[in-house]
Amino acid sequence: MSVRLQKYLADAQVASRRKAEEMITEGRVSVNGKTITELGTKVEDGDTVCVDGKEVRPAEKLIYIMLHKPDGYVTTAKEQFGRPAVLDLVDCGYRVYPVGRLDYDTSGLLLLTNDGELTYKLTHPKHNVEKTYIAQVEGTPTEDEMKHFREGLEIEDYKTAPAKIKILKKGTLTTLKIVIHEGKNRQVRKMCEAIGHRVRRLKRVATGSLSLGSLEKGKYRYLTDKEIEYLKTL
Ligand code: URA
Repeated sequence: MSVRLQKYLADAQVASRRKAEEMITEGRVSVNGKTITELGTKVEDGDTVCVDGKEVRPAEKLIYIMLHKPDGYVTTAKEQFGRPAVLDLVDCGYRVYPVGRLDYDTSGLLLLTNDGELTYKLTHPKHNVEKTYIAQVEGTPTEDEMKHFREGLEIEDYKTAPAKIKILKKGTLTTLKIVIHEGKNRQVRKMCEAIGHRVRRLKRVATGSLSLGSLEKGKYRYLTDKEIEYLKTL
């Protein structure tokens, strides 16, 4: 991404844009060691900008995004198999990272941010953020199976914490609403399999009270200030 030098200086809170222009024309500013007096000069990512010989770094702007992840995308930045990555869907001019992960074949709500502190908070097991999923499973779970699911069950060598499960629509494929607040690898799939109902489709529809709403698959939006505040209180 490139920005005009005077905007770069203003964004870095060195001076107002007008004052920054003065500094440039006065020959006080250099880019990669070369003094710049032209006002239109653009600065690229990775350039070194100095004022009076002292380096100026841009203040990092914090970005918070909600993406409706489609199935068939990985949440890792780059991977060896060349499969599409969620970051290909987001063009916000900043380096953002997914908050936690969703499986390649899971769709739904994925937060992305460059706020490392918030990511840490939201993904740390002790913070217990509720995540709501809609799952389509093979067959229909019985009351006993759902009781087992709610109380916690063994997946591999791990006992899951109490969770919520509710049938939304019965059929050869049954639609379930599931709420968990842990984030073990493929946890919902493994929990459903543990009660004998393989997951065919999985979608995350909410994180805490933040929901996907009508955001279209593959699209993203910026969180509102209120939503950001809310996430910070979790
Ligand atoms: N649980 C899963 O099994 N997969 C996901 O992607 C998220 C939760």
